[in-house]
Parts: sequence; C-alpha cells; structure tokens
Amino acid sequence: EKTTLISKLKETIINVPDFPIEGIQFKDITPIFLNPKLYEEVIEDLANFSRGKVDAVVGIESRGYLFGIGIAIALDVPFILIRKKGKLPPPFVSEKYDLEYGTSEIEMREGQIKPGQKILIHDDLLATGGTTEAASRLVEKQGAIVSQFSFLIGLKDLEGQKKLEQFGAEIYEVLQ
Ligand code: PRP
Ligand code: MG
Repeated sequence: EKTTLISKLKETIINVPDFPIEGIQFKDITPIFLNPKLYEEVIEDLANFSRGKVDAVVGIESRGYLFGIGIAIALDVPFILIRKKGKLPPPFVSEKYDLEYGTSEIEMREGQIKPGQKILIHDDLLATGGTTEAASRLVEKQGAIVSQFSFLIGLKDLEGQKKLEQFGAEIYEVLQ
C-alpha cells in the first residue's frame, strides 16, 4: 500500500548533503536496486499512474532509464531513450536547453516517436525541470503529445512543477 511504499523508500534512499557541490542535497537511489521486491513495488506504483493512458514511455539519460524501462514493460508499450549529445548515430532529432552556466543538448533516434502518440516522460528526479522541459519540446516537435510526467522524487520547492505546467500534462511523483 502507498504509505508503506513511501516509508520503505524514505528508509532506503540516502540523502547526501553538499554533494556534488555545497548546498545540494544529493538523493542516492542506488540502494533501491539491491532490493528487487521494492523495485517491483515502485514499478507497480508508477505503472498504475500511466496504465491505459499512454502509447509510449520516454526515459531521460541516465537515471530515467532505471524505472522508465520497467514502466514500459509493465504497460506493454515501447520505451524510447533520450540521450545526452553525441551518443546516438544519425538520424536523430535534438533539442538545446539552458543550464545555469552554458547550454546542453539532448537527442532521440528519429522516427521512434510517432505523430499523435500520447507520451509519458519519465525521470528519477524533478528539480529545476530544465531537463524535462527540453525533453517535452523534443517530443512535441515530432508531433506527439506529452500526456504525463512521472518521477520517483519531486523536490518540494515546486519550481520544476511550475515549469512543466505549460505542457498541460498530468504529473505524478512517488514521493516528495
Ligand atoms: C539529474 C536527475 C534528473 C535531472 C533533474 O540528472 O537524474 O535527470 O538531474 O534536474 P533538473 O530538474 O534540474 O533538470 P543528471 O543530469 O545529474 O544525470 P544522470 O541522470 O545521468 O545521473
Ligand atoms: Mg538524470
């Protein structure tokens, strides 16, 4: 049940203060993968949110793959990878986005998303929302619909959620 899942996750995820830089509270999710039963429960919870509502799952490199692929298999829909620049052979489509200092770029194999498809964009963590916003633009520019977002963890200052409002999609976070 949901409250026990949340408390198990809170006991399992390690909060590391001041990593990778001072002031950041790093969430180490790696211990989840030492516990296959817990992993299955997380997938079930995330899959329940999206069941019957999406045609494909898009996962963001790299931690977005860890649960994204499990969700896609549970829903029996395609899983599509968004990769960081330079990892995919052509043909690919790309999207640039701003970081605190400089810019970054993400890419997806051309043709894997079909126009009109309803898409779930999944990542492990929603912080500023910059990565997910760029992923959403990449999905929309190929004529597909961003229907849902899901995250294992949403940081509770809400900055990320605000940035995603423009897409009019449902948002789910397993825990905050
Ligand atoms: C982290 C996290 C999210 C993103 C969230 O990824 O896994 O993808 O940052 O931040 P945002 O909401 O401010 O965009 P990171 O770039 O550290 O890479 P990783 O997933 O490869 O570890
Ligand atoms: Mg990431």
